[in-house]
Amino acid sequence: MTATKDGPGAARDRGGYPPDHPSEEGNSVSFTTTTKPSVRQILDAGLDASTVGADEAVMLPPACYTDPEFFEFEKQALFLREWVCLGRTEQVANPGDYFTATIADEPLIVVRDTHGAVRVMSAVCRHRAMVITDPPAKPSERWWDTTPVESSGNCGHGFRCPYHFWTYNTEGRLIGAPDMERTKGFRKEDICLPQLGVEIWNNFIFANFDTGAPPLSPRLEKIETVIANWDIANMVQSTPEDLEALPWNWKVMFENFVEFYHSDRLHNRICAFSTSDSYIESPFAPDDAAIISAGRTTHPDFGFNPTFKALFPPIKTRTEDERALAAFFLVPPTLAFGVNSDSAFYFLLVPTAVDRLNIRVAGLYPRGYLDLPLFHELEAVSALGIDYFNQMDFAAVSSVQRGLRSRFAPRSQLCWQETPINQFHRWLVPRYESAS
Ligand code: FES
Ligand SMILES: [Fe+2]
Repeated sequence: MTATKDGPGAARDRGGYPPDHPSEEGNSVSFTTTTKPSVRQILDAGLDASTVGADEAVMLPPACYTDPEFFEFEKQALFLREWVCLGRTEQVANPGDYFTATIADEPLIVVRDTHGAVRVMSAVCRHRAMVITDPPAKPSERWWDTTPVESSGNCGHGFRCPYHFWTYNTEGRLIGAPDMERTKGFRKEDICLPQLGVEIWNNFIFANFDTGAPPLSPRLEKIETVIANWDIANMVQSTPEDLEALPWNWKVMFENFVEFYHSDRLHNRICAFSTSDSYIESPFAPDDAAIISAGRTTHPDFGFNPTFKALFPPIKTRTEDERALAAFFLVPPTLAFGVNSDSAFYFLLVPTAVDRLNIRVAGLYPRGYLDLPLFHELEAVSALGIDYFNQMDFAAVSSVQRGLRSRFAPRSQLCWQETPINQFHRWLVPRYESAS
């Protein structure tokens, strides 16, 4: 099925074309990758040296982070083939709720259809290609700007393209096309917005352009065992923050997100409750869809804020061990998330160029916490604490990006506390190789 209900038992559903779905030329995605010479040169630079064990591996070649052609290659090799997280089901709680996203230059609509299923489909009109969720006009000072304009709201029973008013229902089927009766052979019943595969995991919405891709959830079971007691499926997000046009490569962000090596150094004393040498290696197998990075904290019920303690009621369903566990996860290529004592949080990465990145940052809280007295005040304090970490991390990664452009950029070995970076590279390289 293409759309996925997110009720009980539906979490493992995955996408595909339903048998009764109207198909037409253009609904299938081509995966032919042409490998440009500069990309070939990078791929031939010995990527295997990054996939041996963490105790002897080296980083990827710097050009993987700086070469625009390589980023174009990654769109084909990763973003158009892998399960990409686009958001949370609470963003489309009711039929007709939708939001837009752009992945690898593809404008997409995420919508809950009138039957209650979550769908992800192309937002490109099947007439003459206007993005149907774009506004009919832009402010005069921005009329020339082709930067995607993302939107959200409730579309009622469907979408109407602002250009010539072709109208689609929430399943993407064309239901209206004015004055087309003289056009020979035109049948609106044959036309539908191309659908992506959809899978819901812990209320994160994943989509895949490759409707034949193997399901994601079975390859996330290692994470599932770590986070089960946080019950993330029953968490809801508070107001997300959107950070735009950050000037570094998406992989530099992921690598910073999961390594413990810098905790004692860059973050120095502000991270005293979660030290670098507390890192505990988690296994990674070639078929895993996620990388785990976890460590013991110095005390239970910690918090990333100036008090070092959880500000909200700690989650009671965790074991004694889990009360002193700081854990971070990558589900490449777009989702990074972590669990705290009283909440969880995620970063949704949308790269727009080799050195440009949009990130959505949001906290996830057990249902009911958003109604706690002083929730917003406490969340603001918590956000300040996290901001402090982010400011240090963002300063470091933007500087790393500058360094990676240098002719002297290194391809260094790693510390054992950076093992998750090596695991990330072991996720990346086979995908680069199979696409080249
Ligand atoms: S481009 Fe959408 S109706 Fe013409
Ligand atoms: Fe950090």
